[in-house]
Amino acid sequence: MKYRKLGRTNWKVSEIGYGMWGMAGWTGSDDEESFNSLQMAADMGCTFFDTAWGYGAGKSESLLGQLVRANKEKKLYTATKIPPKNLKWPAKPEYSLDDCYPPDHIEEYVGKSLRNAGLGSFDLMQLHTWEDSWLEDDRGIKKMMDLKAQGLFHAIGLSLNRWEPWNGVRAVKSGLIDSVQMIYNIFDQNPRDELFPACREMNVGVIARVPFDEGSLTGTLTKESKWPEGDWRNTYFVTENLNSSVDHANALKPLVPAGMTMSEMALRFILGEPTVSTIIPGMRKPRHAMMNMAVSDAGPLDPGLMKELEKRRWDRKPQKWSQ
Ligand SMILES: NC(=O)c1ccc[n+]([C@@H]2O[C@H](COP(=O)([O-])OP(=O)(O)OC[C@H]3O[C@@H](n4cnc5c(N)ncnc54)[C@H](OP(=O)(O)O)[C@@H]3O)[C@@H](O)[C@H]2O)c1
Repeated sequence: MKYRKLGRTNWKVSEIGYGMWGMAGWTGSDDEESFNSLQMAADMGCTFFDTAWGYGAGKSESLLGQLVRANKEKKLYTATKIPPKNLKWPAKPEYSLDDCYPPDHIEEYVGKSLRNAGLGSFDLMQLHTWEDSWLEDDRGIKKMMDLKAQGLFHAIGLSLNRWEPWNGVRAVKSGLIDSVQMIYNIFDQNPRDELFPACREMNVGVIARVPFDEGSLTGTLTKESKWPEGDWRNTYFVTENLNSSVDHANALKPLVPAGMTMSEMALRFILGEPTVSTIIPGMRKPRHAMMNMAVSDAGPLDPGLMKELEKRRWDRKPQKWSQ
């Protein structure tokens, strides 16, 4: 496993981190299997784990606390997220700071997350949604700074809305935050336009999420894919999105080099972007954790394939179903 710096925190985080949503919210999760998968990742050198109160109302945070206690000899960086007060994802321009992150709500959920995980502090505390217009009301960020000064967490981050990397550039440039989390993968390359240059300029850590486009970039979805009732993926992969995602993913298949899987190609594409500090694939199976952790040693793709994949950029705009 190779390590990169998370911006100005100077933490050495593993190039492949861990996304902990699926294990607490998607159907087909099994806690023992998820925990074995987390442990497999830690044993292979993974040091960055991304969770949120919103992942099973604290369930994923509790699994992370369990992992930290089982690995006291290792430094595992813990990142969680405060949900918006109105529990609506993504944020919308008409939502005010009071709708989403009033100071008392921030304080309440930092306490809840610490109790869920059974930890004295988190390394990184993120707001789970963001609107750059909230910079004009500094009560939220001031409360975050106050709680950070109390030692309840050590760095402040934002998680940006799907397909809106531009809606965080002002926050990055404000110098008030330590990290930013956004979607970056073979399809969604738009953070390279404005957000990544701002992160480089301000030395803000970059957490690249959803490396597999929620599954289509593993090459395993078909136009017939369906999930059990209640699974979030049914609301994201509505027919319109499933069909076009499968078409875009199938068009990549001829480019996958012999002996490589599409998921490996997807992760190694992201490794080729030096601004990214860590990539956080969602994983619940030890087999997936093992495959994904091994990708760091393989390194970025060869330059010819990188160039070809850069042409596969697919710019999308937020839709009703793209929460
Ligand atoms: N607003 C936000 O802040 C926000 C939103 C979305 C996600 N996130 C974060 O980003 C993380 C990653 O996103 P995600 O989990 O939604 O989607 P993702 O990483 O794009 O895809 C996860 C899917 O890929 C599968 N997978 C993983 N490794 C694989 C492999 N080697 N081969 C085949 N399939 C593989 C997983 O299967 P199994 O689960 O069965 O192993 C799961 O179905 C989340 O877990 C969460 O931490 C944050």
